[in-house]
Amino acid sequence: EKSGYEYFMLKEIAEQPHAVAETLLGRLNETGDLMLDEVRLTDQDLRDVDKVFIVACGTAYHAGMVAKYAIEHWTRIPCEVELASEFRYRDPVLDRSTLVVAISQSGETMDTLMALRHAKEQKARVLAICNTNGSTIPRESDAVLYTHAGPEIAVASTKAFLTQLVACYLVGLHLAQVRGVKYADEVAAIIAQLQEMPEKIEQVLSMMAPIRELARDLAEAKSVLFIGRHVSYPVALEGALKLKELAYMHAEGFAAGELKHGPIALIDEGTPVICVVPSPRGRGVLHDKVVSNIQEVRARGARTIVIAEEGDVAVKPYADHLFYVPITPTLLAPLVTTVPLQVLACEIASARGHDVDQPRNLAKSVTVE
Ligand code: M6R
Repeated sequence: EKSGYEYFMLKEIAEQPHAVAETLLGRLNETGDLMLDEVRLTDQDLRDVDKVFIVACGTAYHAGMVAKYAIEHWTRIPCEVELASEFRYRDPVLDRSTLVVAISQSGETMDTLMALRHAKEQKARVLAICNTNGSTIPRESDAVLYTHAGPEIAVASTKAFLTQLVACYLVGLHLAQVRGVKYADEVAAIIAQLQEMPEKIEQVLSMMAPIRELARDLAEAKSVLFIGRHVSYPVALEGALKLKELAYMHAEGFAAGELKHGPIALIDEGTPVICVVPSPRGRGVLHDKVVSNIQEVRARGARTIVIAEEGDVAVKPYADHLFYVPITPTLLAPLVTTVPLQVLACEIASARGHDVDQPRNLAKSVTVE
């Protein structure tokens, strides 16, 4: 049931504030402590963890990339993220004190399932972050954190991604709490900030009209590039993946700092470059670096489309199009910066006349390797 929306994807994008609230629901008690009761690992098990490995595919892998920044910062436990299809066929170093986190919307992705089985054979503990109750991946895991996003019908993942991010943050914060962390004040502050995210995502959704307009303009572009740094790097990859799968256009995401090591050669007169800018507060150096990267691509002819935090005036002179998102702590920013990229991909695909919910050559759940 599309409830009046033209596509399931648009409906699912609109459902994101509610979906994120559902992921958070019941996970925080009155004193703000995290309660992950579906996680059947003892606190001692979690104290023993000396390495985290995240395995996933596609969009879920991008959620894992964001999680790495948060988990390492909050817990100081080394965290690696790997494509499930690669993990399985090399020889990853795992043992009982490794926590493997398998992220999957469907819970049936064969590559992820095989990676999970491989991890279990090495005696690692496996935690699934999944949206589908009773599916294979959670059934075979030691512990499960369901995202409760509700069914996702469109092939392109949207609300599953945002809720996977929230679940990853919860895992990171929980690990930090049970292990007793250096950044206890920050953990408490982030918990409070997480509760505000549904409202912020709602605000972003209410400001999408100019993105729709821009989409019509970009529909004929030969190639679209996305740049970001830190947690905005996986957001750039996610924006590019959405555009590839829906609009069948060449789209690529880059770590902005890598541009000068090769990709900047792609920039031609008028090449659209979508720039996801970190907050100028907190990690100010990072912000300034991205602003320089925007200047660099613009000097070479790029048409810059900038997603920045409200009040960030420093980007104005270099933005051909500027979209603001609400003020959000750096690590949580993907929850707001991804939304305009989802809408953009959906609208470009629709302007090109494609079936947004059923892109060619793709299946919702990839149950073969
Ligand atoms: O069900 P899963 O989360 O395991 O699926 C993983 C990928 O196949 C999936 O995210 C895919 O990349 C989406 N179509 C992206 O929109």
